[in-house]
Amino acid sequence: MGAMSPDPLLRALEGIVGAVHVLVDPALRAGFESDWTGRYHGRALAVVRPSSTAEVAAVVRACADAQVPVIPQGGNTGLVGGGVPRPGSTGVVLSTRRLDSVGAVDTSSGEVVAGAGAPLGAVQDAARAAGWDVGVDLASRDSATLGGMVATNAGGEHVVRYGRMRNHVIGVEAVLADGSTVGRVPALRKDATGIEWAGVLAGSEGTLAVITQVHLALVARLDAHAVALVAFDDFASVARIAGELRATLPSLLALEAFFAGGLRRVRDHTGLPSPFADDWPAYLLVELATSAEDAARETERLASVLDRHSGVRATAVAEDEAGAARLWAYRDRHTEAINAAGVPHKLDVTLPHDRLVEFTERVPGTVAAIEPDAELVLFGHVGDGNIHVNVLGLDPDDATVDHAVLQLVASMHGSISAEHGIGIAKRRELALTRTDADIAAMRAIKHALDPEGVLNPGVLLPDPR
Ligand code: FAD
Ligand code: MLT
Ligand code: ZN
Repeated sequence: MGAMSPDPLLRALEGIVGAVHVLVDPALRAGFESDWTGRYHGRALAVVRPSSTAEVAAVVRACADAQVPVIPQGGNTGLVGGGVPRPGSTGVVLSTRRLDSVGAVDTSSGEVVAGAGAPLGAVQDAARAAGWDVGVDLASRDSATLGGMVATNAGGEHVVRYGRMRNHVIGVEAVLADGSTVGRVPALRKDATGIEWAGVLAGSEGTLAVITQVHLALVARLDAHAVALVAFDDFASVARIAGELRATLPSLLALEAFFAGGLRRVRDHTGLPSPFADDWPAYLLVELATSAEDAARETERLASVLDRHSGVRATAVAEDEAGAARLWAYRDRHTEAINAAGVPHKLDVTLPHDRLVEFTERVPGTVAAIEPDAELVLFGHVGDGNIHVNVLGLDPDDATVDHAVLQLVASMHGSISAEHGIGIAKRRELALTRTDADIAAMRAIKHALDPEGVLNPGVLLPDPR
């Protein structure tokens, strides 16, 4: 799109949201222009902070009229560069953070309506206070927003029990590129009146609409939690036992894996003590959640599965909530510990369960063949076949290693993105695991809803050949 002179647009935006919510000062824009990892950044014409659906619609319309792209941004915790401006292009960042209302929880139906800019943590607090819970949890819970989570179809640590974000969305309201508002909130649990906007927008990464409200289905709050950290000789044992735990434990809430190298990074960064007297190659963090009546039976089942496995080297069981938080910190603080060591290349991938171990054995060779000194940190949601491949020590702008790892994934029938999305990081590789027909259909949907390419250009879809 060819940009017009920015000043009339800025004046129009100020007229819509008020001058104080149009950030043009570089110091104020900076936090919105760079992503969480520091790998992706660009310059925005302005950051605009609307506070209602009507304001979002007017902002999008003004930008479309001026032929200036809109980059929707929620909590800016995305890890594929899709929520920040692209280098060398102009655009307006539309921050949803002021759309942060959390409605009253409907305690009889277990539902809540919230603004797209509401942080997950605030919605979790409201749900729990009302005797319910949110079925999705991410370590970025204090910043990640509901709108961003729908737009990326976020996964997280409870997918093994409850599935991804899309599974929990009853309805959405959203603003299209022409400024029209679509969807219905509050929505109905069952509404078979044609294509559902929640389905269309889940995973659309801000390219089809700006989500303004989300109607969420909650899950029952379970008060009896048990957390254990288990050490193993190798990842093959972790993968084997993970499958068995899924088959045996109805109360399974989380099944997370990490390795010695990641634990070392977390300990160096946080100063946490070692969880065990000795270091071990691979670790599995298990959380169970159930009702008080079923708790003893479920923990006994867990103990008996662990007892049967010859690969188990050590087990730490949390005795209370503080102990559980201590064990979770070894897993949850991986992302910040890796970031603290440099700008990582983050490749979030899924493998078929029966190829997970082979992948963890092959990926070090793939990386070392290109960059022998790079540091590889693997961890992830082993119950979902999802490994987070983090590579440190690379030039942030050189994607050679990224490409090789994603090719390895594709050759093993995996997916190049499990839960973070495509963003700008992987759009050139989209065709590795989506067919030409898939991409053509996605392009047709994009063109139908946003023919001028106003919303988040350069994200998700590769450039046409
Ligand atoms: P942003 O980063 O602001 O945006 C992400 C994408 O969504 C962009 O393309 C943006 O344009 C679009 N978008 C944002 N809001 C809207 C909207 N209202 N309408 C339309 N498009 C919009 N992700 C997981 O899936 N699982 C995890 O376990 C997980 N753990 C994380 C842990 C840490 C410490 C961090 C930093 C990140 C983690 N993430 C995880 C990634 C991130 O938190 C998720 O992708 C989250 O869904 C992004 O939400 P956000 O509000 O920050 O979106
Ligand atoms: C996680 O599971 O912690 C995240 O997806 C973030 C990451 O990959 O670093
Ligand atoms: Zn993850």
